[in-house]
Amino acid sequence: MKFITEILSDILTKGAKLAGYDKKLTITTCDLQELGDYQCTDAMSLAKVYHKSPAIIAKDIISQTQDKIIKAINVAGAGYINIKIDEDFLTNYIVEYVNNLDNLASSRISPKNTIIDYGGANVAKPLHVGHLRSANIGESIKRICKYVGNNTLGDVHLGDWGLQMGMVILGIKREKPELVYFDENFVGEYPKDSPVTISDLERIYPSISKETKENEKTLKEAKDITYALQHGNKGYFALWKHIVDTSIKDLKINYDTLNVHFDLWLGESDTRGDYDNVINYFVKNNYAYESEGALVVDVKEENDSKEIPPFMLKKSDGSVLYSTTDLATLIERYKKYKAEKVVYVVDNRQELHFASLFRVAKKYNLVPKNMELVFAGFGTMNGKDGKPYKTRDGGVMKLKNLIEEVKNSAKEKSNENNTSEVVAISALKFADLSIMRTKDYIFDPEKFCAFEGKTGPYLLYSLTRAKSILKKVGEISGKFNANFCDKKILLSLTNFANTIISAYENLAPNELCDYAYKLANDFNSFYAKTSIINEKDMDKKYSLCMQTKFVVTILEKILNLLAIETLDKM
Ligand code: ARG
Repeated sequence: MKFITEILSDILTKGAKLAGYDKKLTITTCDLQELGDYQCTDAMSLAKVYHKSPAIIAKDIISQTQDKIIKAINVAGAGYINIKIDEDFLTNYIVEYVNNLDNLASSRISPKNTIIDYGGANVAKPLHVGHLRSANIGESIKRICKYVGNNTLGDVHLGDWGLQMGMVILGIKREKPELVYFDENFVGEYPKDSPVTISDLERIYPSISKETKENEKTLKEAKDITYALQHGNKGYFALWKHIVDTSIKDLKINYDTLNVHFDLWLGESDTRGDYDNVINYFVKNNYAYESEGALVVDVKEENDSKEIPPFMLKKSDGSVLYSTTDLATLIERYKKYKAEKVVYVVDNRQELHFASLFRVAKKYNLVPKNMELVFAGFGTMNGKDGKPYKTRDGGVMKLKNLIEEVKNSAKEKSNENNTSEVVAISALKFADLSIMRTKDYIFDPEKFCAFEGKTGPYLLYSLTRAKSILKKVGEISGKFNANFCDKKILLSLTNFANTIISAYENLAPNELCDYAYKLANDFNSFYAKTSIINEKDMDKKYSLCMQTKFVVTILEKILNLLAIETLDKM
């Protein structure tokens, strides 16, 4: 179905044409409701083309514009066209609109097989705040893409094949050298049970990682193990599998807490059978060359404003790296999963890596030129000092502790203990999502948990309030009439259509957050001055209930698209 802005655009464009102006006119919502519900500012740009004053052009256009959906149309200021919508039109429109909510985008977006690469946790390393945004934003982007009709697959793309694996294996070898995984002469089956627990991993990785930074010999040992793991060492591989499984079990618990769910639990290692082929392709065709012992391929282009370094396929010690695994993964996504679009939800600081990855893949014809490869970068969550958020002793803050901190803040603000988990997570997630993706922001649990302002708890609260009104009123019947409702709210509801398309195009969950906050606000201030429960006129009461129901439907839809769980009571 057509959006109201589109219907109006057609009507005004026709009027303009009759008045002698040829341009597809754009309609936007009007911020000042006193002036109008919608506006058109195109007379300004037409003025330059037709060499007339914008006010005259605007007047010409409205003199030729007439339609039953327009209640009033006039010119204000230097040539703004303001439009008021007819309430009877709105009565029919809004009902059909809410019934069609899930198909709004269908005629506007051609569905694509889309893979969302998000989460990006690293095996054996604790999940930290940097992974929080990827998980939250990625989950929401995946839901938005799906909602507008794409076939989506969310892939966690675990970091499970890099140097940290060699480090962890080395750490385990030091603690338990007697394990069969380290016995080169071992034949037979390796044990089924993991020799390490998640707390072992949480202990081993930080200590060995610290040591590799201070001691070159340790680093060399870790590198050698990584190389051996990548080149078929059976014992290391069997142990590696246990480490991965143990880590995944723990990660799933963390992601579940955040209401983040992946369709694919693949990782860097899943394309390990392809690396040789990929590398050979570049060697055979003379695309690759050696640079300081490493094997690289050029991606720079003539018009580059900054230097784009070559793309590395193999390190000087012979092992593959992040770029190799990402390239093989991209090829697999194209070939095996028939992906037409891949969206990478990764920290802004990796932008260059992805720019080169996309170039390599297309320049050397490994994926089609028209495959859509999108880097959806995000900013950092900082502490009050403006630096990436840390624990009190200066370490990396773990997700678990972060949630704990927000939960404590939420508990202070709410007296119902059992709801505080959902409220805390809503606070954390909404804060993460409501900031423009590319921006850094400051972690401030006090602010996130407030029940006033643009916060998760405020939205949950508004939704439960609206739901409780409906519950109190109970089943009623009557005739829906927009004239009884708050026009601002009804128009705002119709604007969800424009918002979801824009949020999809910009991969911007924050646009949904802004929209939901405004809708909740309008609803709350309307409800503060209107009693639905005591309304005597049954048609009016029914209409107000329907309006409330529409608000509930849309707020629930948005919270679901943001992957924020809701409550029935607060
Ligand atoms: N594991 C990486 C990290 O922690 C993020 C992975 C992002 N996705 C990708 N395809 N490279 O930085």
